Amino acid sequence: MSLLDSLKWRYAAKKLNGVKVPAEKLNFILDAIQLAPSSFGLQPYTVLVIEDEATKAKLLPASWNQSQITDSSHLLVFASWTSITQEQVDTFIADIATKRGLPLEALNDYKSYLSGSALNRSAEEQAIWNAKQAYIAFGIGLTAAAEVEVDATPMEGFVPAQYNEILGLTEQGLTASVVLALGYRGEGDWLAPLPKVRRDKDLLFKFI
Ligand SMILES: Cc1cc2nc3c(=O)[nH]c(=O)nc-3n(C[C@H](O)[C@H](O)[C@H](O)COP(=O)(O)O)c2cc1C
Repeated sequence: MSLLDSLKWRYAAKKLNGVKVPAEKLNFILDAIQLAPSSFGLQPYTVLVIEDEATKAKLLPASWNQSQITDSSHLLVFASWTSITQEQVDTFIADIATKRGLPLEALNDYKSYLSGSALNRSAEEQAIWNAKQAYIAFGIGLTAAAEVEVDATPMEGFVPAQYNEILGLTEQGLTASVVLALGYRGEGDWLAPLPKVRRDKDLLFKFI
């Protein structure tokens, strides 16, 4: 399918049927998420790929009892960093040096620029900035799923504090930002046949 056909095909499934997504399709979606751009390239998040049924069952009441949680094949929890530390910046810079075959000193200016920009923000600003980066990866994952005809429900309908507790995220410096339930649309999903509702282009776009 073309990208636009994939985006027309996808919808936020209200009912999934529990069928497993094969490994190659899951890997395609995870590869796309890995390739997502982020500010400075920092990727300040971890994506939990949850297949364990007992864990999904624990998350159900923390997700407004939305059935897609337990009927998903895989539940992707985009957990963004709660803050940014100098150590995380240093690890990132070292990774650039290794992967691009550069001496660390060659990245001193970039490191100062990144440290100045990221570490000087308040803790709250850092957390918001990190979550925004996670949403970019989430959007790309959602698009990639449609590309391989895997249904997906994008989800903000959950209680982050409860996710953090159940998944032990806080002690890892993470917080649940957004969720993507992957699987296949269930028979009789009321939303599947309905036309898409999008703002008209003349309202959505302003050409200057
Ligand atoms: C960030 C985000 C959070 C959402 N949270 C939920 C959710 O918790 N449960 C749900 O059923 N749909 C959720 N949706 C689905 C939206 O309602 C849906 O994407 C929107 O109405 C457009 O419809 P479509 O995705 O079917 O084209 C969410 C979508 C996004 C992008």
